[in-house]
Amino acid sequence: MQSQKRRPVVAGNWKMNGDLALAESFTTAFEGQTLDNIDVILCPPFTLLNSLSSDVFSVGAQTCSEYDNGAHTGEVSCGMIKACGAQYVILGHSERRTDQAESNQLIAKKVEACLKEGLTPILCIGESLEVRESGELFNFLEEQLTVVIEHVGIESFRNMVIAYEPIWAIGTGLTASPEQAQEVHAFIRALLKKSNEAIAENIAILYGGSVKGSNAKELFGQEDVDGGLIGGASLKFEEFLTICQAAN
Ligand code: PGA
Repeated sequence: MQSQKRRPVVAGNWKMNGDLALAESFTTAFEGQTLDNIDVILCPPFTLLNSLSSDVFSVGAQTCSEYDNGAHTGEVSCGMIKACGAQYVILGHSERRTDQAESNQLIAKKVEACLKEGLTPILCIGESLEVRESGELFNFLEEQLTVVIEHVGIESFRNMVIAYEPIWAIGTGLTASPEQAQEVHAFIRALLKKSNEAIAENIAILYGGSVKGSNAKELFGQEDVDGGLIGGASLKFEEFLTICQAAN
């Protein structure tokens, strides 16, 4: 890992998985682990936010409402998330962009809501295979990022994490090669650099998409890959720990 400057981050996205027993087993299993050189984050479903707590890892939600409160049945505000002890929120995950039709504009509003509450957004961007093969990869990612930059301002990216997650690699067992990941991460950093060099240098850009214990080290060894956003492999403690150790 390149970064003296950038502290690696490994975030686990449990998606709609897990139960109280799993949350308690992770809390216990992480006790006494020394992962001093990275930030570890676990993002369970809302119902388990209160059940995970540790000196070793932080906790995050998987989405939030763009509103503070009010008549929004089923929604959970950033204030409520914070009150559960969470510090992060995953936003713009491709599953929500697809299943809940979340647009770049809506995601930008959610980023704003998080920042207002002092929560750190983990902003996910990433392309489908169709987009990659059409030759529009970089334009597509630029659009996803630019809408958020224009809405919250580049200064807000001091308090954000970005995750590059190619959709074709999520839950498929297909991983971007380290070179493919590095190419896109360098592109994202260069794009941010146009607005603010220091912020671009300091922001953690995570790779997500079928990261496992066996491929983490090589991916995280790339110059602009500052850790990972882990789905399936974050549900198995030993596997997730191996990934954390690869970043540490
Ligand atoms: P995966 O998911 O690690 O299971 O591919 C990654 C993600 O969706 O964040």
